[in-house]
Amino acid sequence: MTQRRSIKPIHRTRHLLATMAMLAAAVPVLAGDSFVLDGNAESGKALYQLHCASCHGDRAKGDGSWAGAYEPPPSDLTRAGLDAERLFLATRDGGMAVGMRATMPAFRHTLDEQSIHDIVAWIKSLDH
Ligand code: HEC
Repeated sequence: MTQRRSIKPIHRTRHLLATMAMLAAAVPVLAGDSFVLDGNAESGKALYQLHCASCHGDRAKGDGSWAGAYEPPPSDLTRAGLDAERLFLATRDGGMAVGMRATMPAFRHTLDEQSIHDIVAWIKSLDH
């Protein structure tokens, strides 16, 4: 009895460590400070047209057909200095996650992280 009781916590710790390792593997994207863009621009193009173009425009210049309804308007996503990590975070978590307005919706319930990577890869592939 006593022996068993002293073994249990070790099992629990192992289980916890295994769970943590699995979680860490599932979210490699923001591990540490380095964001690594891993997307397919071809897949991203269609997703962008479906989910983003109405506000941000066909070529991501911030001139979609709904753009006039927003003040400030949807961002030009090709502007200099807008890096892939910020594009990813604002898209996944919404404008407020990067200090902007909630008029930029969060897409984490609509798009999985791979799809967001794909969209960002497409935006990054545009000629500026
Ligand atoms: C309903 C309109 C709307 C849709 C749809 C929309 N956005 Fe936005 N987005 C905005 C607005 C408005 C802003 C600017 C918010 C502000 O200025 O505070 C913005 C800002 C952003 C920013 C912040 C850029 C910066 O200047 O730092 C990113 C990144 C972004 N959008 C990406 C996307 C992507 C990618 C999609 C599609 C998955 C998308 N948005 C869909 C309206 C929209």
